[in-house]
Amino acid sequence: MSDRLFIFDTTLRDGEQVPGCQLNTVEKIQVAKQLEALGVDVIEAGFPISSPGDFNSVIEISKAVTWPTICALTRAVQKDIDVAAESLQYAKHKRIHTGIGTSDQHIKYKFNSNREEIIERAVAAVKYARKYVDDVEFYAEDAGRTDNEYLARVVEAVIKAGATVVNIPDTTGYCLPEVYGAKIKYLCEHVDGIENATISTHCHNDLGMATANTLSGVLNGARQVEVTINGIGERAGNTSLEEIAMILKCHKGIGIDTNINTTKIYPTSRMVSSLMNMPVQPNKAIVGKNAFAHSSGIHQDGVLKNTNTYEIMNPKDVGLDDNAIVLTARSGRAALKYRMSVLGINVEDDSKVDKIYQAFLRLADQKKEITDDDVLVLAGADRAESHAVKLEYLQVTSGKGFRSVASIGLNISGQKFEAAASGNGPVDAAVKAMKRIIQKEMILKEYTVQAITKGSDDVGKVHVQVEYAGNVYYGFGANTDIVTASIEAYIDCINKFRIPHTEGEE
Ligand code: KIV
Ligand code: ZN
Repeated sequence: MSDRLFIFDTTLRDGEQVPGCQLNTVEKIQVAKQLEALGVDVIEAGFPISSPGDFNSVIEISKAVTWPTICALTRAVQKDIDVAAESLQYAKHKRIHTGIGTSDQHIKYKFNSNREEIIERAVAAVKYARKYVDDVEFYAEDAGRTDNEYLARVVEAVIKAGATVVNIPDTTGYCLPEVYGAKIKYLCEHVDGIENATISTHCHNDLGMATANTLSGVLNGARQVEVTINGIGERAGNTSLEEIAMILKCHKGIGIDTNINTTKIYPTSRMVSSLMNMPVQPNKAIVGKNAFAHSSGIHQDGVLKNTNTYEIMNPKDVGLDDNAIVLTARSGRAALKYRMSVLGINVEDDSKVDKIYQAFLRLADQKKEITDDDVLVLAGADRAESHAVKLEYLQVTSGKGFRSVASIGLNISGQKFEAAASGNGPVDAAVKAMKRIIQKEMILKEYTVQAITKGSDDVGKVHVQVEYAGNVYYGFGANTDIVTASIEAYIDCINKFRIPHTEGEE
């Protein structure tokens, strides 16, 4: 019989911490429901003390989701634990995830403390959390760089204090797979009472070893893995859920199963990428656009003769539907609704479907085929409807041998404004015209245009970072006109600006 591996998804906590990936509560509920359909065991829904938004999201996700355990992160601080417990009040299955840094670097520089005091704080936090819930996970932050003997003492103490899961994070992504696996083995062999807790992995990808380290942890006794969709997360990201799930599916000999319905992997990946405006690299394992695309003649010939020659898994197993109906201007609402549901977007409200369908028809008039990415952008476009600043029109004249000129119309809270400007290119002219209306000191820090891959009529996607009043804001725009997409991305940022406090204010 196979052993069972528990999947702990932290897309909505570690993943959502990434600058520019923030979701609102409605979007987080959409992702949480999709994670439930995917079959994850635990959803880390947020860090409730960090903001009212996070607190509220944990509350709403707890109400919306039935089967998975809902987990809330805390530091080893009583106030954090109080707030986490309150945010979990509606969860059918609840877990508090508390912890503290255990490496000498963390003990000395972060806490200005010593090893004994850290054990006391860890034990106190676990005991305090156990007053609220039966399921308490303890994380030993930077366990990857913590010496094994001391780590074993910490783990033993927190299990005695009531921890049901012990998380061994490679917070900096530093460990080699053998070293991380040996660490888990050491804990299995040296911690009294280890059989009373589940060991969890939590590996970051700074050196590209997150999946290898996680697998090594599992092969050495860990039975929970902390992962994110598309591997998103702090810096170089976390271990990808899809990689671990498919490794265990392809290598049945390992003898470890998960509860993941792998056919939901692709739609979940697309949903997260679209809502977070975080493109998936084309060569990303399992969910990248090229993951199943055979381009060389030798490969194509082999795959046509027998798919086994170059494919180790069936694309259908990850939910890639190669018989997908091609959407064009002649497709009806039902076909669009079906495609959205395949991509994990279930819109119940008919008037909303109608709005998306009208936008779909307008786009289909401009380009021959509507791709999955286009559908996701269309489905997410209504997020801009509540914006105070909206683009009404944009006209740009540009070309070789003369300065570009742009005229723009903005609607700001119902009032219309117009301006014109010239610039050293169409985007520059459009941004200058826009700035004549939005008179704020803002600096464009980064501007990325996503490659157009499907033809010159494709939708271009633009990501920008704009600095305003000491904060950096992230914006996204998508349009068949790349200059319009650029301005939409800029306006997306402007709508997120927090007004700086002026003197005399709290
Ligand atoms: O990487 C890490 O150590 C973490 C902990 C808070 C679990 O994310
Ligand atoms: Zn982490």
